[in-house]
Amino acid sequence: ELGGFPHFMLKEIFEQPETVRNAMRGRLDRDAATAKFGGLNLTPQQLRAIDRFVLTACGTSWHSALVGEYMIETLARVPVEVEYASELRYRNPPLTPTTLLFALTQSGETIDTLAALREMKRKGHPTMAICNVVGSTIAREADGGIYLHAGPEIGVASTKAYTSQCVVMALLALHFGRLHHLSYEAGLRIIDDLERLPEQVEKALETNAECRRIAAKYAGCENFLYLGRLYNFPTALEGALKLKEISYIHAEGYPAAEMKHGPIALVDEHTPSVFIVPRCGVYDKVVANVEEIKARGGPVIAIVEEGDHEVAQIADDVLEIPATADFLQPIVAAIPLQLLAYHIAVLRGCDVDKPRNLAKSVTVE
Ligand code: F6R
Repeated sequence: ELGGFPHFMLKEIFEQPETVRNAMRGRLDRDAATAKFGGLNLTPQQLRAIDRFVLTACGTSWHSALVGEYMIETLARVPVEVEYASELRYRNPPLTPTTLLFALTQSGETIDTLAALREMKRKGHPTMAICNVVGSTIAREADGGIYLHAGPEIGVASTKAYTSQCVVMALLALHFGRLHHLSYEAGLRIIDDLERLPEQVEKALETNAECRRIAAKYAGCENFLYLGRLYNFPTALEGALKLKEISYIHAEGYPAAEMKHGPIALVDEHTPSVFIVPRCGVYDKVVANVEEIKARGGPVIAIVEEGDHEVAQIADDVLEIPATADFLQPIVAAIPLQLLAYHIAVLRGCDVDKPRNLAKSVTVE
């Protein structure tokens, strides 16, 4: 059942070239240069009238919602609000009548996410579920939805469901972009980018041995910072959550430039900073942030694009991932972050598949 892997988490990390492909299967429509879904249960007229999305979730699923916010606002230019389900269920925010709710949940059973969905439904908003578990409560109660088709996720720490959720977010951004201003050519370029993704994920898995080596170097540290900007800010949050939940090391994710406003006080020679810094519009700005950390004696582990020599010169350790379109970087960059957390946890003797105090689905409030 483990297929030769020592843990479900590692097995599931290595399934990602396939699960990422499964999330797109049958959903890319080259003729119309868009993404299509079987189960939204809304007409194109109804979908076009949507002027706002609320994405709600907990934990790792909340991070994929944040990635979705960046994708949808950039590619579809529709305003997106990301809300913790535990807050949304009691917060009563003012919403336009044409707001569409998406609940993102691997298990489909998370009680706060279910309650937030019910509350939005009660108010008359259309609700959609983005779920992995087929026939789960949230999948059944939503008006429509999209399945991840990632297969069972056994490890408590979510890995393949996260990257699949990000893929579905990209498909939604494409779909809604094409309902509005996005051109046929731009739609086709996005499809090309998506089709290259499984191979890039496969390539990113080749960092495994290097992740293990770096893990051994830092496994004794008690604090980590994870830093990235734009699409890689949610990636930083997710990297930090993976580390803390399975290795019990304190880790915080921040938008890289925010470190000046507090977290930089934590930096010393025992506090590594993991930078997610593939090439992007703010690359030079992030490099400057790396230099600021180095100037204060903090070790830097950098996730960079293949062939990047600039960061490699200043960082202590480097993990190379293949180049990809910026909106897909969170998916490719998640791989070495998952592997790094995994190896650190194993080296510390932690039970990676069943971390203390955590459950696979949180069905109590
Ligand atoms: C983190 C993790 C949790 C879940 C969260 C939501 O690795 O597994 O943070 O992401 O409990 O669970 P779902 O997605 O099932 O609603």
